Amino acid sequence: MALRIELTNNPKAKPDESALGFGKYFTDHMFIMDYTEGIGWHDERIVPFGPLAMSPAAMVLHYGQAIFEGLKAYRRPDGKIQLFRPMENLNRFNRSADRLCIPRIDTEMVFNCLTKLLEIEADWVPHSAGTSLYIRPFAVAMDPVLGVHVANTYHFMIILSPVGNYYAEGLKPVRILVEDEYVRAVRGGMGFAKAAGNYAVSLIADHTAKAHGCAQVLWLDGVERKYIEEVGSMNIFFKINGQLITPALQGSILGGITRKSVLELAGKMGFDAVERQISIDEVLQAHADGTLEEVFGTGTAAVISPVGHLVIGDKEYRIADGEMGPCASAIYDKLTGIQFGKLEDEMDWTVVL
Ligand code: COI
Repeated sequence: MALRIELTNNPKAKPDESALGFGKYFTDHMFIMDYTEGIGWHDERIVPFGPLAMSPAAMVLHYGQAIFEGLKAYRRPDGKIQLFRPMENLNRFNRSADRLCIPRIDTEMVFNCLTKLLEIEADWVPHSAGTSLYIRPFAVAMDPVLGVHVANTYHFMIILSPVGNYYAEGLKPVRILVEDEYVRAVRGGMGFAKAAGNYAVSLIADHTAKAHGCAQVLWLDGVERKYIEEVGSMNIFFKINGQLITPALQGSILGGITRKSVLELAGKMGFDAVERQISIDEVLQAHADGTLEEVFGTGTAAVISPVGHLVIGDKEYRIADGEMGPCASAIYDKLTGIQFGKLEDEMDWTVVL
């Protein structure tokens, strides 16, 4: 592999770290490589961040053959930069690729290109508490053809964005609307994949959520409309009667890396954590009998986001007095402590650059 590097002559001013929000600013450079059937992935390059030239007939614009990942680079107290379980993201990328008939990437090679890109953009990794550099790898089908078929040409790219909190609320508990009309995915579909279409299909529910003053919706299963799946951009955990429960992965839920890490950490921290089917009725029953102790979401972008209210139709269920509960708080401290290099990484999850 020959990685070509073209540096910008016009570096941008860095944004104010206290007002980053999520995904609004982009660094000076990006990584890109092309795929051509019969050749494979080729022309790996780091170039100035800028618009793509593409045909209006490019297949991704019509048929949505697009997948992505999300991970972060963190600034450690010693000033170095580190990644959190990056190979988990790149391996998941290939699982999404399989589902969408997109050619797999060589994860080791892409990891090496990513570290080179991060070396070039090191100054873009913010220093303020709670901020990081969000890394967005993605692949899209480029054939300029309107026939529906698996594309023969693709772009794989990595763009970088300095970010703060995903939710404007920060760690303040969010309100989540239980969606009872639309569904996000069904087993056999692509719910487990990080496919652009999964997010497109979720947008309609965003309107209803906002109309109820909610940050996002909680999806129920697509068949019985009974079992809990996930929240818009997060997996979800319930603490009921001392036990931490998250819906089992059965093909329609995204296998979050934060979800997996929380399950592993919770065990180590002495919480009883399980993956199993959990119905909305069970959650409401637990609320009624006072055993619903905490609800929180997990995701790379959202980290750990406490849920303060579940809204179903015109009913509101307040959780943990609308505050972040002790379990979510302890797991948040532990997880972010490891991610930012403030706590010892006994699990060997981090990669220092
Ligand atoms: C992430 O947590 O990285 C996500 O992919 C959520 C994103 C859609 C904002």
